[in-house]
Amino acid sequence: MDLDQLALQRVMSIPPYPPGRPIGAVARAFGLDPDTIVKLASNENPLGPGPLARQAIIDSAAGAALYPDFDTFALRESLSAHLGVSPDRIMPGGGSSDHIVLAARAFLEPGRSGLISQYSFASYQGAISAVGARTIVAPMRDHAVDLDRMLAAIDETVKVIYLATPNNPTGGAIGNAALDAFLDATPSNVVVVLDEAYREYLAPNARPATDRLPEARPNVIVLRTFSKIYGLAGVRVGYALADPRMIAILRRLQTPFSVSATAEAAAVAALAEPAFTDAVRRSNEIERTRLAAGIQALGISQLPSSANFIMLQVGDGQAMFQSLMRRGVIVRPLDNYGLADWVRVSVGRPSENDIFLEHFAEVLQQARLSGASSLLRA
Ligand SMILES: Cc1ncc(COP(=O)(O)O)c(C=O)c1O
Repeated sequence: MDLDQLALQRVMSIPPYPPGRPIGAVARAFGLDPDTIVKLASNENPLGPGPLARQAIIDSAAGAALYPDFDTFALRESLSAHLGVSPDRIMPGGGSSDHIVLAARAFLEPGRSGLISQYSFASYQGAISAVGARTIVAPMRDHAVDLDRMLAAIDETVKVIYLATPNNPTGGAIGNAALDAFLDATPSNVVVVLDEAYREYLAPNARPATDRLPEARPNVIVLRTFSKIYGLAGVRVGYALADPRMIAILRRLQTPFSVSATAEAAAVAALAEPAFTDAVRRSNEIERTRLAAGIQALGISQLPSSANFIMLQVGDGQAMFQSLMRRGVIVRPLDNYGLADWVRVSVGRPSENDIFLEHFAEVLQQARLSGASSLLRA
């Protein structure tokens, strides 16, 4: 039996999601001590979860035999208090990856299109293709999301737009006024998935006013996650803010119990420790600035970032990725995004960023000495 023949053609045409190389796999492949490996490939929080969230994960062990609450009552109540949004406008999920897929499954099919910006999160295209819809890609301008081009790309087949701010992998953010103008100009029968996975890395006064946005715009789904600033990527929990009718649609498709009891408890606890989250944001800002200065001092171009990663232009991203990996530093090559001469590096702890800068400088130096100019781009 040929399983590849049996599977839907549209499924076989989806490139597998390329996760960052795990530390264990790199240690085995290169004979390295896992404890010395620095992973700066998946925009994770290098400080981990806060103390209350850690304790909640431990405490949740006692209830692990029971199915979780599929209504995630406790988390919706906590988020409601945290955001000033009614609980019926909040829908937790097993990471915001859940909602990205649900929006495509609910609103797209063959003959319909999903619209994304060039160089945006790879899962959008996967979600669109999986349901047989067409992906329309609006070009960026100078490696920044171009909202005018996105608007110009809307045709009558477009039913879902995925838009991230700050954007991954480029790191740029969209301001409040530009976002409002974009949403004003978007037809109300087009669903806009506004992905704010990195929102909390923006200074509070720089964050767009999106908590209650779906109250005025029922076609908008705002996505947030506990995977980034809250340090809970491993337990899988995120949430959507949306109109209750929108939530009722998405809930029909949600995998039952996709938010585990552990994930819910950890998220509730994480919301109760804002001082920790603030400290993570401040540390990220300090370290991102330091990393950016170190990269600049080496003569390498980079994009300004509002998030917990930086995209840098190294000439041959795969070669840089491989050279750094052999030295135990994992970054993210971006050739699958069509950005073959760039890599993305996540902001780590101070010591991790030092190790990255040290090895990065050495790899560049070696490339210069050996005349491998493809690794370098002035
Ligand atoms: C823009 C963007 N959206 C969503 C996600 C997925 O996050 P989650 O862990 O909540 O599924 C990521 C993860 O890297 C991301 O970069």
